[in-house]
Amino acid sequence: MATKDPLIVGVDIGSYAVKVCQLQKTAQGYKLIAIGSATIPPGAVEDGVLQNPDEVGKTIRELFGNLKIKSKNIGISISGYSVIVKKVSLEKMDDASLIEYIKNEAEQYIPFDVDEVYLDFQKLPQKKEGSDRIEIMLVAAKKEIVDDYLKMLNDIKLNVVVVDVDGFALENIWETISGKIENVALVDIGASKMNINIISEGISVLARDIVVGSEQLTEQLANILDIDIHQAEKVKLGTETYNDKENEIAGIYNQTCTQWVLEIKKAIDLYLANNPDKPLQSLVLSGGGSKVSGLAQYIEEETGLKVNAFNPFNRMLVDEKKLHHTYINAIGPEMAIAAGLATRKSPF
Ligand SMILES: Nc1ncnc2c1ncn2[C@@H]1O[C@H](COP(=O)(O)OP(=O)(O)OP(=O)(O)O)[C@@H](O)[C@H]1O
Ligand SMILES: [Mg+2]
Repeated sequence: MATKDPLIVGVDIGSYAVKVCQLQKTAQGYKLIAIGSATIPPGAVEDGVLQNPDEVGKTIRELFGNLKIKSKNIGISISGYSVIVKKVSLEKMDDASLIEYIKNEAEQYIPFDVDEVYLDFQKLPQKKEGSDRIEIMLVAAKKEIVDDYLKMLNDIKLNVVVVDVDGFALENIWETISGKIENVALVDIGASKMNINIISEGISVLARDIVVGSEQLTEQLANILDIDIHQAEKVKLGTETYNDKENEIAGIYNQTCTQWVLEIKKAIDLYLANNPDKPLQSLVLSGGGSKVSGLAQYIEEETGLKVNAFNPFNRMLVDEKKLHHTYINAIGPEMAIAAGLATRKSPF
């Protein structure tokens, strides 16, 4: 039976596709109600900035229509240059003083004018009992960038009740699904960015967005095969083949995946340098870009870590009449962030 508090609908607006996920909390755990993905025109979302609100709005409206989602309360997440996430260590203080302190002192921690950002923070669990210091995760997001999303979604009659950050939504769904406290590297490879979030003893200790992703592959395939981006996308997804160019294509994959793995290794090395006594137990891969065949094994070989392809739905209840498991498994990896948003309750 469903609980009373309805969950929000998760809407992950990526640079390649919008992903929508609706869950229900039941006594047996989360149940998947609806999922779907729809591509948006190239350039409509760039570096986390909404460039073409009309097209993106239309795509989201159609997706909600096709999925027959009636709920209007949604959660989105942001990423890229317009959002800064920073861990700050402060003297211990009560919550009221903390809010006041952040309001007055945030400027010293962020590279933006405080009047131009939305500020939020979360207290992190204390590492040492009785310590006179506390740690917070400070988040600052540029108002004009967030407001563009809010306006676009308001125009299509959706209420944004949660604005999260991609990396946190990812952490949220992994922790919810795995139910484990483990030292783990979460890596989401999208079309235009890779998000790395290293969780140590249940706390995010290193989070970064890197400007690499699966779009690189498309662009290089288009170049080398002298075809347009749409055709190159088909080659990448295996629906079109160029047998006489196999070596060149393999070369592109090698080069790109090597670069991705280098970035992953850099983050892991930095983490290990600061936490030599807390080795990572595994690496969890998500995002459409993570579906490159052989990538998981390659990362395993290069990092020595066990790599798990993340499917947020494989332990959830599913209405098999409405959703086929082949479809769920196919799009599971790129639904991770939307699923993370979809576990949230409406705060109102
Ligand atoms: N089998 C596959 N092999 C390689 N790439 C793939 C595969 N399937 C999907 N992709 C790519 O994954 C990307 C889409 O993934 P995803 O939906 O996670 O990106 P996004 O969230 O829109 O992008 P970003 O987060 O970077 O803004 C596209 O570039 C798509 O071509
Ligand atoms: Mg994405």
